[in-house]
Amino acid sequence: MRQARKRMISVVGARPNYMKVAPIHRAMQAYSDRVEHLIVHTGQHYGAAMSDSFFRDLEMPAPTEFLGVGSGSHAEQTAKIMVGFEKVMLTHTPDAVLVVGDVNSTLACALTAAKLHIPVAHVEAGLRSGDKSMPEEINRLATDAIADIGYITEESAANFLRAEGWSEDRLVFVGNTMIDSLHYALPTARTLKTAQKLGLQAHDYILCTLHRPSNVDSKEQLSMIIQELLFLAEFTPILLPLHPRTRKNIEAFGMTAFFHHPNIMVVEPLGYVEFLSVIDTALAVVTDSGGVQEETTVLGIPCITLRPTTERPITCTVGTNELVVPTQANIHEAFERIHARAFKSGSIPPLWDGHSAERIAEHCVGQWLV
Ligand code: UD1
Ligand code: UDP
Repeated sequence: MRQARKRMISVVGARPNYMKVAPIHRAMQAYSDRVEHLIVHTGQHYGAAMSDSFFRDLEMPAPTEFLGVGSGSHAEQTAKIMVGFEKVMLTHTPDAVLVVGDVNSTLACALTAAKLHIPVAHVEAGLRSGDKSMPEEINRLATDAIADIGYITEESAANFLRAEGWSEDRLVFVGNTMIDSLHYALPTARTLKTAQKLGLQAHDYILCTLHRPSNVDSKEQLSMIIQELLFLAEFTPILLPLHPRTRKNIEAFGMTAFFHHPNIMVVEPLGYVEFLSVIDTALAVVTDSGGVQEETTVLGIPCITLRPTTERPITCTVGTNELVVPTQANIHEAFERIHARAFKSGSIPPLWDGHSAERIAEHCVGQWLV
C-alpha cells in the first residue's frame, strides 16, 4: 500500500540561511509526490537588505510561516523563536525538521522540534571552531547534541561528530549547499558587473565584510580595524557592504568619519547575486564571515579572515583562505601582503560541486523519511 505523503519543514532565519535552504527546496520538488517541503522564516533577520531580496534572488517561494521575531538579546530571541516555532509545529505537524548553519534560529528550532519528538536534520553539522566565546559555537554544539542526522560539508566535521559519539549511519557527507546556490546564481552574477557600476575596477579593489561581535562590538577593536582599513585604502580601493550590527556600532561609537574617505566605499548590505558579483571580481576579500570563506575558496579569490579560528578549516588547508588573528600587527602585515599581491592559491574541496542539495533530498526521501 502506498504511504501518505510526508511533510518536512526547513528553517531560515538569518542571512546565511537562505542560500543553504533555497537549493534544498528546489531539490525536494523532484519528490513532491512523496514529501511536501515547507519553508518557515523566523524573522531573526528582516527587511529588504537582510531578508526579502534573498527570496527574490534565490527564487524561493514565500515562507509558509513568518514568525517575525526580530532582534533581541540571545535569550530573548531564542525564546521567541521557540514559542513561535512550537505553534507552527502544532499547526503543520511535520514528520521532520531541517535546520542549517549555526545561528540562533538553528538551535531554537532544533530544540523545539526535538522536544516534540520530531526528527531533526542539521545541514553543516559538526563544524567546530573550538571557541565557545562565539555564540555560533554554542549553537553548533547544542544543535548537534539533539540532531538525528548530520549533513556534512567537510571531513573535519565528520571527525568532530565521531569524537562526540555519533555513529556512521547518522553522518551523511553531501558537500556544501551554499555552493549549490553559488553555481545557480553565478551566471547571472557575471552579467551584473556590480563593481564597475559602483565605479570600481575589476580585480583592483578589496571587498570587506565585518560583523563578528569580537571584531565589531568593542570600540577599541573596531577602531583598530578601521585604522588598518585606512592604511589599506592608501593603495587599494575598499568596498565595504556594511552589516547592520557593524553600522549600528560605528554610529554609536561616533566613528562615521571614515565613510567619507575617497578610497573606501561604504554601502548597504548587498543582495546575494550582487554580492557574488563583487566577490568574483575582487582582488582579494577581507572578512570575518563564515560563508564568505567558502565562496572565495570556490571562486579562487584570496581571502583574509580576521579571526583566530575557523569552523571551516578546509577553506585554509585546501582553499584560498588564510586566518589572521586580528591584532594590529597581524592585520598590518596581512595588508602589506595584499599591497605586494602575495596571495596563496587553492583548489575546490570534495563535493563542493553544486549538487549537494540533491544528495540531501535523495537521502531524506530515500532513507531518512521512509
Ligand atoms: C547573526 C548570527 C551570526 C551570523 C550573522 C549573519 C546569531 C547568534 N548570530 O548575527 O551567526 O553570522 O547573523 O549575518 O544567530 N539588525 C538589523 N536588521 C536585521 C538584523 C539585525 O538592523 O535584519 C541589527 C539589530 O540591531 C540587531 C543586530 O543587527 O540587534 C544584530 O543582529 P543579530 O541577528 O542579533 O545578530 P547578527 O550580528 O546579525
Ligand atoms: N552576503 C550577501 N550580501 C552581503 C554580504 C554577504 O549576500 O552584503 C552573503 C554571502 O554571499 C554569503 C552570506 O551572505 O552567502 C554570508 O552571510 P554572513 O556573512 O552574514 O553570515 P555568516 O556566514 O558569517 O554566518
